[in-house]
Amino acid sequence: MENFVVAIDGPAGSGKSTIAKIIANRYNFIYLDTGAMYRMVAYYFIENNIDLKDEKNIQKLIENIELDVENNKFFLNGEDVSEKIRTPKVNSIVSSVSAIKKIRIKLVEQQRKIGFNKKIILDGRDIGTVVFPNADIKIFLIASPEERANRRYKEYIEKGIKEDYQKVFEDIKKRDYLDSTREESPLVKANDAIEIDTSSMTIDEVVENISKYIDKKFDNPNIYVGKINL
Ligand code: DC
Repeated sequence: MENFVVAIDGPAGSGKSTIAKIIANRYNFIYLDTGAMYRMVAYYFIENNIDLKDEKNIQKLIENIELDVENNKFFLNGEDVSEKIRTPKVNSIVSSVSAIKKIRIKLVEQQRKIGFNKKIILDGRDIGTVVFPNADIKIFLIASPEERANRRYKEYIEKGIKEDYQKVFEDIKKRDYLDSTREESPLVKANDAIEIDTSSMTIDEVVENISKYIDKKFDNPNIYVGKINL
């Protein structure tokens, strides 16, 4: 098979990137973390003190900003910002940045180019609905807000970032709200996506579950693998 697209969507902290990386390794797929692309733009906003409502500056930014992804490292105008885009500060504005239509248009175009004719797994919010609506497999990962906040909190501790649990929890809830109520490509489950609640599953269990669908489709590319809506 020449090209194969796996779309993984879901809210912040549902386990998308952890799972997508493992699946990509297992099947030798390219992995694209589309959230990191929005994070790079958010980081640029912070660094350059750009006002989210400043339309003119946003247009200029879109023309001047260059995003590159290489081996899961993220480069913003040549600078490796892979670590700098995972801070509470970036978290606090990234939803608002990703709601800007002009930015979405530019990033979606790049994501489609990267994924064209490849074996690829992408994670994000709108992969199965907007970026690749014809993806071979669409997964929608969910988990309770408490569990997702727990995971984010642990991640911060591991990285030595100090943040109050309650604040992490509130941030997750706020991002859920902003991501799912925005006008442009809100976070919604595609009709044909397979929903998996990871709250009480191990990483291995989720990977095995998704692998079953991929293997099925690999064995028989013409069969439909996805949710059947009756
Ligand atoms: O997956 P993440 O937490 O790294 O994503 C960061 C933000 O980017 C998230 O709040 C929503 C936005 N996002 C998006 O709007 N569309 C995507 N395809 C990926 C992320």
